[in-house]
Amino acid sequence: MKLIVSFLVYLLVSIATPGFAASGKVHLDSVDIDLSDKASLQRGAKIFMNYCLSCHSAAYMRYNRMGKDLGLSDAQVAESLMFASDKVGDTMTIAMRPKDAKKWFGVVPPDLSVISRARGTEWLYTYLRSYYLDINKPLGTNNLVFKDVGMPHVMWQEQGYVRKDSDNKLHALTGDQATAFEYNMMVRDLVNFLAYIGEPSKIQRLALGKWVLLYLALFFFVAYPLKKIFWEDVH
Ligand code: HEC
Repeated sequence: MKLIVSFLVYLLVSIATPGFAASGKVHLDSVDIDLSDKASLQRGAKIFMNYCLSCHSAAYMRYNRMGKDLGLSDAQVAESLMFASDKVGDTMTIAMRPKDAKKWFGVVPPDLSVISRARGTEWLYTYLRSYYLDINKPLGTNNLVFKDVGMPHVMWQEQGYVRKDSDNKLHALTGDQATAFEYNMMVRDLVNFLAYIGEPSKIQRLALGKWVLLYLALFFFVAYPLKKIFWEDVH
């Protein structure tokens, strides 16, 4: 009987929390996603172009669409954000061939267009801050959230070296609190940008939403007196 009860409890818990089995025991850190923060999105775009777009594509996103959403002109986009292409109407594809990628990394780096929706922003924020030194791995690093990951710690110069203790806690070996703070901010901007490319029209929806509410609020002052007039004779 006890066994059946615990099995039922287990079943309930695993159904209620989809990430339960997949993410193991790693605690995911929350991240402040703010799609109206254009400066953060612009910084995130720059980090993405510099550190990610060599291996990962974002094939559903066009440069000029991104520029428009982030408040940048085509010229600004071309000058500071386009390293992988030369036409602002292009989508964010990469030159690396899948066959070569497989040879180099063992797996093909996935397209990141909708990764924020597949993995969630908290997972991404934690993942990019969970690399640690592991001399048993070919790349010299491993990751708490994604065990034996085939992706190198591409931003290690920004974060410095990190080691893992026997309790699975991470400790910085180099750098100080300021470095850690800056790295967290950098990853936050990057994840903010990934959240944006995962759902680009959300920016417009949020902006439009304000006007709709304002319209409704103003319309109330027209509708209410009108209602009063119409119902005057009925009473
Ligand atoms: C040197 C090539 C390379 C670069 C640069 C790179 N990645 Fe990766 N990335 C990979 C590979 C390879 C994998 C697949 C790892 C695996 O499945 O073991 C991967 C996997 C991922 C995943 C997990 C995908 C999933 O859900 O399975 C995310 C998220 C990711 N990368 C984000 C990034 C971000 C953000 C950047 C820029 C900061 C970046 N990557 C830069 C090679 C790269």
